[in-house]
Amino acid sequence: MDEWRRSGLSLGLVPTMGALHKGHLSLVKRSVAENDRTCVTLFVNPKQFGQSEDFEVYPRDENADSQAVQAWRADILFAPDLDEMYPAAAVTSVSVPGLGDVLEGEFRAGLFTGVATIVSKLLIQSMADRAYFGEKDYQQLRVIKQMAADLDIPTEIIGCPIVRDDDGLALSSRNSYLTLEERAIAPALHS
Ligand code: PAF
Repeated sequence: MDEWRRSGLSLGLVPTMGALHKGHLSLVKRSVAENDRTCVTLFVNPKQFGQSEDFEVYPRDENADSQAVQAWRADILFAPDLDEMYPAAAVTSVSVPGLGDVLEGEFRAGLFTGVATIVSKLLIQSMADRAYFGEKDYQQLRVIKQMAADLDIPTEIIGCPIVRDDDGLALSSRNSYLTLEERAIAPALHS
Protein backbone atom coordinates (compact mmCIF):
# COMPACT_ATOMS: atom_id res chain seq x y z
CA MET A 1 0.00 0.00 0.00
CA ASP A 2 2.99 2.32 0.66
CA GLU A 3 4.08 1.84 -2.92
CA TRP A 4 0.59 2.69 -4.22
CA ARG A 5 0.66 5.88 -2.18
CA ARG A 6 4.13 6.76 -3.45
CA SER A 7 2.87 6.28 -7.02
CA GLY A 8 -0.01 8.67 -6.39
CA LEU A 9 -2.70 5.98 -6.67
CA SER A 10 -5.90 6.57 -4.70
CA LEU A 11 -6.89 3.94 -2.15
CA GLY A 12 -10.35 2.85 -1.01
CA LEU A 13 -10.72 0.86 2.23
CA VAL A 14 -13.56 -1.54 3.00
CA PRO A 15 -13.30 -2.62 6.67
CA THR A 16 -15.15 -5.87 7.45
CA MET A 17 -15.33 -8.64 10.01
CA GLY A 18 -15.59 -11.21 7.20
CA ALA A 19 -18.44 -13.64 6.39
CA LEU A 20 -18.74 -11.50 3.27
CA HIS A 21 -22.10 -11.13 1.50
CA LYS A 22 -23.72 -8.96 -1.15
CA GLY A 23 -23.87 -6.01 1.25
CA HIS A 24 -20.07 -6.08 1.41
CA LEU A 25 -19.98 -6.54 -2.37
CA SER A 26 -21.81 -3.23 -2.81
CA LEU A 27 -19.13 -1.48 -0.71
CA VAL A 28 -16.32 -3.11 -2.69
CA LYS A 29 -17.97 -2.24 -6.01
CA ARG A 30 -18.26 1.39 -5.00
CA SER A 31 -14.66 1.51 -3.83
CA VAL A 32 -13.38 -0.14 -7.02
CA ALA A 33 -15.35 2.39 -9.08
CA GLU A 34 -14.07 5.41 -7.14
CA ASN A 35 -10.43 4.50 -6.40
CA ASP A 36 -7.35 3.20 -8.21
CA ARG A 37 -6.89 0.48 -5.60
CA THR A 38 -9.16 -1.19 -3.05
CA CYS A 39 -8.19 -2.90 0.19
CA VAL A 40 -10.70 -5.06 2.05
CA THR A 41 -9.85 -5.66 5.70
CA LEU A 42 -10.95 -8.75 7.61
CA PHE A 43 -10.62 -8.67 11.37
CA VAL A 44 -13.12 -9.99 13.90
CA ASN A 45 -12.49 -7.28 16.45
CA PRO A 46 -12.73 -8.66 20.01
CA LYS A 47 -12.95 -5.16 21.49
CA GLN A 48 -16.40 -4.58 20.06
CA PHE A 49 -17.95 -7.72 21.58
CA GLY A 50 -19.34 -7.75 25.11
CA GLN A 51 -18.49 -10.65 27.44
CA SER A 52 -21.77 -12.42 26.81
CA GLU A 53 -21.78 -11.71 23.07
CA ASP A 54 -20.89 -13.89 20.09
CA PHE A 55 -17.16 -13.31 19.53
CA GLU A 56 -16.31 -17.03 19.77
CA VAL A 57 -19.01 -18.16 17.36
CA TYR A 58 -19.01 -15.19 14.97
CA PRO A 59 -19.01 -16.73 11.44
CA ARG A 60 -15.48 -17.07 10.05
CA ASP A 61 -14.43 -18.44 6.64
CA GLU A 62 -11.24 -16.76 5.49
CA ASN A 63 -10.89 -18.96 2.39
CA ALA A 64 -14.34 -18.07 1.10
CA ASP A 65 -13.76 -14.40 1.95
CA SER A 66 -10.44 -14.39 0.14
CA GLN A 67 -12.03 -15.90 -2.98
CA ALA A 68 -14.87 -13.35 -2.85
CA VAL A 69 -12.43 -10.44 -2.57
CA GLN A 70 -10.58 -11.70 -5.66
CA ALA A 71 -13.78 -12.29 -7.62
CA TRP A 72 -15.00 -8.79 -6.70
CA ARG A 73 -11.75 -7.31 -8.08
CA ALA A 74 -10.47 -5.76 -4.89
CA ASP A 75 -6.68 -5.54 -4.92
CA ILE A 76 -5.77 -6.79 -1.47
CA LEU A 77 -7.26 -8.55 1.53
CA PHE A 78 -5.68 -7.42 4.81
CA ALA A 79 -6.41 -10.01 7.49
CA PRO A 80 -4.19 -9.15 10.47
CA ASP A 81 -3.66 -11.29 13.56
CA LEU A 82 -4.85 -10.19 16.98
CA ASP A 83 -1.27 -9.28 18.05
CA GLU A 84 -0.78 -7.15 14.99
CA MET A 85 -3.81 -4.99 15.76
CA TYR A 86 -3.51 -5.09 19.55
CA PRO A 87 0.10 -5.66 20.66
CA ALA A 88 0.28 -6.64 24.34
CA ALA A 89 1.76 -3.24 25.28
CA ALA A 90 -1.02 -1.19 23.63
CA VAL A 91 -3.36 0.56 26.07
CA THR A 92 -5.01 3.36 24.07
CA SER A 93 -8.63 3.27 23.00
CA VAL A 94 -10.81 5.75 21.13
CA SER A 95 -14.27 6.57 22.40
CA VAL A 96 -16.96 8.86 21.06
CA PRO A 97 -18.97 9.95 24.11
CA GLY A 98 -22.58 10.91 23.55
CA LEU A 99 -23.15 9.36 20.14
CA GLY A 100 -21.47 6.15 21.24
CA ASP A 101 -23.38 5.83 24.51
CA VAL A 102 -27.00 6.00 23.34
CA LEU A 103 -29.31 3.60 21.44
CA GLU A 104 -27.29 0.43 20.68
CA GLY A 105 -24.40 1.84 22.71
CA GLU A 106 -26.60 1.92 25.80
CA PHE A 107 -27.31 -1.80 25.58
CA ARG A 108 -23.93 -2.97 24.29
CA ALA A 109 -21.37 -1.28 26.52
CA GLY A 110 -18.01 -0.83 24.80
CA LEU A 111 -19.32 -1.59 21.31
CA PHE A 112 -18.64 1.80 19.78
CA THR A 113 -15.36 2.34 21.63
CA GLY A 114 -14.24 -0.98 20.13
CA VAL A 115 -15.43 0.08 16.68
CA ALA A 116 -13.87 3.57 16.88
CA THR A 117 -10.58 2.11 18.13
CA ILE A 118 -10.19 -0.49 15.39
CA VAL A 119 -11.43 1.75 12.57
CA SER A 120 -9.14 4.62 13.59
CA LYS A 121 -6.20 2.19 13.56
CA LEU A 122 -7.15 0.83 10.11
CA LEU A 123 -7.56 4.34 8.71
CA ILE A 124 -4.22 5.50 10.11
CA GLN A 125 -2.42 2.33 8.96
CA SER A 126 -3.80 2.53 5.43
CA MET A 127 -4.04 6.32 5.00
CA ALA A 128 -6.87 5.50 2.59
CA ASP A 129 -8.43 8.29 0.57
CA ARG A 130 -11.92 6.90 1.13
CA ALA A 131 -13.47 4.29 3.43
CA TYR A 132 -16.84 2.62 2.88
CA PHE A 133 -19.40 1.54 5.49
CA GLY A 134 -22.99 0.30 5.21
CA GLU A 135 -25.86 2.54 6.28
CA LYS A 136 -27.40 -0.59 7.84
CA ASP A 137 -25.26 0.19 10.89
CA TYR A 138 -26.23 3.83 10.85
CA GLN A 139 -25.13 4.67 14.38
CA GLN A 140 -21.77 3.04 13.68
CA LEU A 141 -21.42 5.19 10.55
CA ARG A 142 -22.15 8.36 12.55
CA VAL A 143 -19.67 7.36 15.25
CA ILE A 144 -16.96 6.71 12.65
CA LYS A 145 -17.60 10.04 10.91
CA GLN A 146 -17.37 11.88 14.24
CA MET A 147 -14.20 10.01 15.24
CA ALA A 148 -12.47 10.73 11.90
CA ALA A 149 -13.41 14.42 12.06
CA ASP A 150 -12.31 14.78 15.69
CA LEU A 151 -8.96 13.06 15.09
CA ASP A 152 -8.25 14.97 11.84
CA ILE A 153 -8.07 11.72 9.91
CA PRO A 154 -8.27 12.89 6.30
CA THR A 155 -10.00 9.79 4.89
CA GLU A 156 -13.44 10.54 3.46
CA ILE A 157 -15.99 8.35 5.25
CA ILE A 158 -18.66 7.18 2.82
CA GLY A 159 -21.99 5.61 3.79
CA CYS A 160 -23.54 3.18 1.29
CA PRO A 161 -27.20 2.13 0.97
CA ILE A 162 -28.53 -0.96 2.74
CA VAL A 163 -28.65 -4.11 0.60
CA ARG A 164 -31.70 -6.30 1.21
CA ASP A 165 -32.77 -9.85 0.44
CA ASP A 166 -35.73 -10.28 -1.93
CA ASP A 167 -38.14 -10.28 1.02
CA GLY A 168 -36.72 -7.02 2.42
CA LEU A 169 -34.45 -8.33 5.21
CA ALA A 170 -31.21 -6.34 5.34
CA LEU A 171 -28.22 -8.59 4.60
CA SER A 172 -26.02 -9.21 7.64
CA SER A 173 -23.36 -11.76 8.54
CA ARG A 174 -25.38 -12.46 11.69
CA ASN A 175 -28.50 -13.47 9.71
CA SER A 176 -27.01 -16.99 9.75
CA TYR A 177 -27.96 -17.16 13.46
CA LEU A 178 -31.68 -16.93 12.66
CA THR A 179 -33.80 -20.05 13.01
CA LEU A 180 -36.17 -20.83 10.13
CA GLU A 181 -39.03 -19.37 12.15
CA GLU A 182 -37.11 -16.18 12.98
CA ARG A 183 -35.96 -15.82 9.37
CA ALA A 184 -39.59 -16.06 8.22
CA ILE A 185 -40.78 -13.17 10.41
CA ALA A 186 -37.62 -11.02 10.34
CA PRO A 187 -38.60 -9.06 7.19
CA ALA A 188 -41.47 -7.55 9.19
CA LEU A 189 -38.78 -5.35 10.79
CA HIS A 190 -38.60 -3.59 7.44
CA SER A 191 -41.99 -2.09 6.74
O1 PAF B 1 -19.35 -3.22 10.54
C1 PAF B 1 -18.40 -4.02 10.79
O2 PAF B 1 -18.24 -5.06 10.15
C2 PAF B 1 -17.43 -3.67 11.90
O3 PAF B 1 -18.06 -3.04 12.95
C3 PAF B 1 -16.22 -2.86 11.41
C4 PAF B 1 -16.63 -1.50 10.88
C5 PAF B 1 -15.48 -3.65 10.33
C6 PAF B 1 -15.25 -2.63 12.57
O4 PAF B 1 -14.81 -3.83 13.13
